[in-house]
Amino acid sequence: MTSVCEYRAGLEGVPVTQSSISFVDGQKGILEYRGIPIEELAAKSTFLESTYLLIWGKLPNRQELEEFKRDIQNHRRIKYRIRDMMKCFPESGHPMDALQASAAALGLFYSRRDLDNPVYIRDAVVRLVAKIPTMVAAFQLMRKGNDPVQPRDDLDYSANFLYMLNEREPDPLAARVFDVSLNLHAEHTINASTFSAMVTASTLTDPYAIIASAVGTLGGPLHGGANEEVIDMLEQIGSVENVRPYLEDRLERKAKIMGFGHRVYKVKDPRATILQNLAEQLFEKFGRDKYYDIAIEMERAVEEKLSHKGIYPNVDFYSGLVYRKLGIPTDLFTPVFAIARVAGWLAHWKEQIEQNRIFRPTQIYTGEHQVTYIPIEERE
Ligand code: SDX
Repeated sequence: MTSVCEYRAGLEGVPVTQSSISFVDGQKGILEYRGIPIEELAAKSTFLESTYLLIWGKLPNRQELEEFKRDIQNHRRIKYRIRDMMKCFPESGHPMDALQASAAALGLFYSRRDLDNPVYIRDAVVRLVAKIPTMVAAFQLMRKGNDPVQPRDDLDYSANFLYMLNEREPDPLAARVFDVSLNLHAEHTINASTFSAMVTASTLTDPYAIIASAVGTLGGPLHGGANEEVIDMLEQIGSVENVRPYLEDRLERKAKIMGFGHRVYKVKDPRATILQNLAEQLFEKFGRDKYYDIAIEMERAVEEKLSHKGIYPNVDFYSGLVYRKLGIPTDLFTPVFAIARVAGWLAHWKEQIEQNRIFRPTQIYTGEHQVTYIPIEERE
C-alpha cells in the first residue's frame, strides 16, 4: 500500500485521532478541558473534578463527585507485595523508573482485560488515580531508609500526597497550590506520552501496561523530564548576572534551553502564566526563592533572542519553582507530572478503545534490496 500522506518528522501537524477531550490553540495560548478554559478550572475546580470531567466527558454532580472521591480514598493503599518489591529497588534509582516498574506491577494483581465493561474501566481509573501518588511517596521514604506512611483518609487528594511525602500535614495554601498544579498538568492533547498511551491502548492490552508505557515516555528531558532539568539549569546559572552569558553559550552550541519552546505553543504556555502566579503566592507566604529572579531574567533574555522563533516558556519552566517551595525533591518533579497526567492518559485510553483501530503507520524505506548474504569467514 503506498503512503496516503507525506512524511512529517515527529508526526508534526499530523492528526492521529479524533478527540473531544482537550483543545489547544498554540497561536492564541488557549487550553480547554472538554471545552472549559484552563484558567476557569484552575481557579474554580479541583484535580479530581477535572479528572472526572476529562474521563467521563462532563462535570460530575455533587453525588458523582462525592462517590468518585470516596472510591479514590478507599483505594489509595498499595499491596504489601508491591511495597516489598519497591524495597528492593536501589536508593540511587530514578523515581521515574521506580514509578514505571510499580505501575506495571499493579497489572499483576488486577483482572487483565474486560474493556467492554464500564465497571472495569471505572475500577481501573480509580485504582490508578488513587495508587500512583502512594507509590511515588512510598519510594521517596524507602530510598531514605524509612517505612512508607499509610494514606490519611481524612485528607483530600493533594493534601494526602504531601502528607505521605513529607510525613506532616501540609499548610492549606500549599495543598491548594499543589492541587491546582496537578490540574494544570492533567491533560494536553496528543503529546508524546499520551500518544504512547494511545498506541499501547490500541492493542487492547490492560490499563496498567498502558500507564507504564506512558510513564516511560514522559521521563525524557524533551518532555516531562524538562521540569527537573530547569531547576538544574537555574542552579547552574547561580545568579541573575550569569543568565545572559549562559544563554549565549547554549545558543552558540545550538543547545536547547530547558523549559522553553513547544511543538504547539508559539506564545507563552498559559499554564506557565498560572504556575508563575502560584509560585508568587507561595513566595508571599513562605519566602522568596532566589532562583525565581534568575528565572524571570531568563524569560526576559530568551524573549529577546528567540521570540522570533516562537520560543516562550512552557509548562515546565515555572513548575519546578512551585514544587521546590512545596518541599518536593527535584528528581520527583517528573513523577509529580505523571501523577497528574494519569488523568489525561486514562481519558485517551477510554476514548481510544471506544473507537479503536490498532496504530500501525507506515514508512519511507531508504535501505537497499536483494543484498547478498556474505558468510562470516568472507567478511572484513
Ligand atoms: C512538555 O507536547 C506537549 O503538549 C508537551 C507538554 C505536555 O503538557 O504534555 O506541553 C509538556 O513536554 C513541554 C516541553 C518540555 N520540554 C522542554 O522544555 C525541552 C526544551 N524544548 C525543546 O526541546 C523543544 O522546544 C520541544 C521538544 C519542546 C519542541 O521541539 P520541536 O517542536 O521539535 O521544535 P524543534 O526542535 O524542531 O525546534 C524548532 C526551532 C529550532 O531552531 P532552528 O533549527 O529551526 O533554527 O526552534 C529551536 C530549535 O533549535 N528551539 C529551541 C528550543 N526549542 C526549539 N532553541 C532553544 N531552546 C529551546 N528550548
